[in-house]
Amino acid sequence: MSLHGGRIWDCDDPRSWLDFSANINPWGPPAFAVEAAREALHWADRYPDSESRALRSALASVTGHAVEGIVVGNGAGDLIRALFASLRPRRFLTAEPTFAEYGDVARTLEIPVVSFPLRPDDGFAFPVEALCGALGGGDLVLACQPNNPTGRAWTAEELGRLLGAATARGAVLVVDECFRNLTVPRGPSFQCAPWPEGLFLLRAFTKDFSLPGLRVGYLLASPQRATMVRSFLQPWPINCVGEAAALACLEKGASFIADCQARLAIARQGLEEGLRIRGFQVFPGAANYLLCRSSRDGASLQRGLVPFRILIRRCHSFPGLDDFFIRLAVRSVEDNARLLSALEVVFSGE
Ligand SMILES: Cc1ncc(COP(=O)(O)O)c(C=O)c1O
Repeated sequence: MSLHGGRIWDCDDPRSWLDFSANINPWGPPAFAVEAAREALHWADRYPDSESRALRSALASVTGHAVEGIVVGNGAGDLIRALFASLRPRRFLTAEPTFAEYGDVARTLEIPVVSFPLRPDDGFAFPVEALCGALGGGDLVLACQPNNPTGRAWTAEELGRLLGAATARGAVLVVDECFRNLTVPRGPSFQCAPWPEGLFLLRAFTKDFSLPGLRVGYLLASPQRATMVRSFLQPWPINCVGEAAALACLEKGASFIADCQARLAIARQGLEEGLRIRGFQVFPGAANYLLCRSSRDGASLQRGLVPFRILIRRCHSFPGLDDFFIRLAVRSVEDNARLLSALEVVFSGE
């Protein structure tokens, strides 16, 4: 299993840590989601609807996607597994560094991984030409929108070229949009009718609504492909509490997300400036997290931040990055100020 952020459970008194290692909306979960989840506990003595009809039809109304093409799962992670297992692609093409789970799942299933390196010197630009050129029949190519950990968003033109090449060659394109709603400006997506057989969009309530503990994600696909992916999930892929919270988010969440985006833009700018002043190289990106390079290695930075009970994501486990790269979630202005002043102390002790 690869290293992921949010490892508070490795620490003493887990809830006391200020976690910059997981990129979760710092202003959530919203009260309406918590309230709905609490109410749903009354139904814990029944099996949930194995077809998740209420949630899938609400998702169809909000997204405009056909309900038959919507699959829900126990977080986006669950759907990544089912997707790879059901498609069994000939090869998995990926631009790295990116979210480690994709490659891990492919390797577990013995699917060959073809990695295209992203480089710091050009701002981790996506090698679209090379990816399109290499795509062949039966391949799966994945675009993380925006990319984790680099924060760079794919342009509409880049995504269009990938989809065009995938469609022409009989390959599939998966776009992971789990962070898209927290991106400022919001990165482009697809609105297609009819829906291309080779296109999959992956989303979750995890980051947007700060509900990583409830595990609700969903996939938009063609009806035929959706049925295939669904057959690789367990009979009750989400629980009644998560489903109720997700429903409340769909019903009442639009203004919450708009408000959080506006706050993120301000918090992000302040954090970027503060980090640059403290000597960090901050890579350009649009996401609710920042990839930075430091003159101090991540291990010693993390050690220095322990007395402040602050967690950061070291990036040495990502292909192409070393321990001088760290990823920091953008949190509230107050939390960011705590991090910046802690860093000040850590660096003053050099
Ligand atoms: C890009 C990306 N996609 C998917 C996931 C998994 O999301 P979930 O917690 O909904 O399984 C993560 C988790 O960090 C992620 O970074």
